[in-house]
Amino acid sequence: MSDANKRRAALAALDLVPRGATIGVGTGSTVNFFIEALAAQPAHLRRAVSSSAATSARLHAAGVALLDLNEVADLELYIDGADQANPARQLIKGGGGALTREKIIAAAARRFICIVDDSKLVARLGSFPLPIEVIPMARALVARELTARGGRPQWREGFVTDNGNQILDVHGLVISDPPALERELNQLAGIVTVGLFALRPADVLLVGSAQGVRKLGDQE
Ligand code: 5RP
Repeated sequence: MSDANKRRAALAALDLVPRGATIGVGTGSTVNFFIEALAAQPAHLRRAVSSSAATSARLHAAGVALLDLNEVADLELYIDGADQANPARQLIKGGGGALTREKIIAAAARRFICIVDDSKLVARLGSFPLPIEVIPMARALVARELTARGGRPQWREGFVTDNGNQILDVHGLVISDPPALERELNQLAGIVTVGLFALRPADVLLVGSAQGVRKLGDQE
């Protein structure tokens, strides 16, 4: 993972944000480079929907007004990072624990631009453990269900999501069909959000590397 490559992808994303647009903003170190760039151009973006308390604090410090998603009927664009991405722009997210609000904003947005450094682009998702947000009382039940599916769930002990829930990081899952697995896990009682973003993949993936920024999606 390289900060320089994360920054390259973040700056390329800023170029795709129409001036004056209202957008959704994700969470994580790559997005933090995007917010840092925004702060240097205060007129570029005045209003945003935030995916976490951490991002809200950074946006506020950058002079961006925060909107509740319920106030926004039409969200033009969502910018967020990911822990892994495949060439179909399907993602694993939730390393920072903000997956539930991230998935809600991605669902609301007309266009989702994902920004990653090149270490995160993989042929098959799954070597990064899959984060799953669970209702606390269901943690052991969900863990048993995941074990039965070949995973090794680890409780992210001491971590509480912005929604008051817990995270299981699931190692060893074979993710041969990401939309099918997302659909299946979505049915399990006690799961709030699965960190697979395959049913609603990114529309555009910007991959930062030492060679520049590669764009996948939007007809490439
Ligand atoms: C947070 C996320 C992040 O997008 C993901 O963890 C990537 O983070 P970073 O940009 O710090 O590598 O899904 O819930």
